[in-house]
Amino acid sequence: MRDRAVPEPGHIVILTGAGVSAESGLGTFRDPGGLWSRHDWRDLVTPEGFARDPGAVLAFYDWRRERARAARPNPAHHALARIARDWPGTVTLVTQNVDDLHERAGQPEVIHMHGSHMAARCAACGHRWPAPAVMAPADPCPACAAAAARPDVVWFGETPQHMERIAAALRAADLFVSIGTSGAVYPAAGFAAAARAAGARTVELNLEPSENARIFDETHHGRASEIVPAWVAGILAAP
Ligand code: OAD
Repeated sequence: MRDRAVPEPGHIVILTGAGVSAESGLGTFRDPGGLWSRHDWRDLVTPEGFARDPGAVLAFYDWRRERARAARPNPAHHALARIARDWPGTVTLVTQNVDDLHERAGQPEVIHMHGSHMAARCAACGHRWPAPAVMAPADPCPACAAAAARPDVVWFGETPQHMERIAAALRAADLFVSIGTSGAVYPAAGFAAAARAAGARTVELNLEPSENARIFDETHHGRASEIVPAWVAGILAAP
């Protein structure tokens, strides 16, 4: 199977990034006009930034959570839910996104390696709970009452979540597909090379060639809402 352009039932590992949610109106980080052209990431997505000004960091995530709640999944999210449902083999979906648009499109299981801004987490005891619309630095933990609430996300300098499970999926992958991610942030940016080293075919679906473009066996460039449904239809129709 590993020599074929289109896999027979096997293990497909999909990695998504901000580009998959761009057409739902959530924007990206590194595109012109993206979040990191307007904000300094060191202030908003690092433990040091949170220690300096927790109110500003919580307000940033309150704003992003509110936008995500108002957004709707787009055809790319729906197509990925479809391949998870209809593919006779295994599909593992890993996302760097902290929004819940994959889940709201009906994706049966989503591995949020950068966490989720829909949840709050206690930095003291690790308890998680649904994030309120507005988080405050003094919010008490429902489990231990510590005033140590933070969004349940992964910041630069922290370890991504579920890495053992992701590593196992990459080792078992027959096909690795990267969607809507610039390939600028590790460890996610290293997944394609890891899957390829384990024998998987690698495919990139992105608006433009990513920083990793050279390591993909196959690339499709365009808007996720168009190229993801087309790719999914092709895979599911393959004999
Ligand atoms: P980036 O903003 O770095 O990259 C988004 C990618 O999506 C770019 O390569 C765009 O070309 C592509 N893109 C934009 N619009 C698209 C569309 N309509 N269809 C398809 N592709 C499109 O976002 P990520 O790679 O997800 O981490 O960023 C990775 C991490 O960096 C994020 O999880 C976040 C960020 O800093 C943290 O905050 C810790």
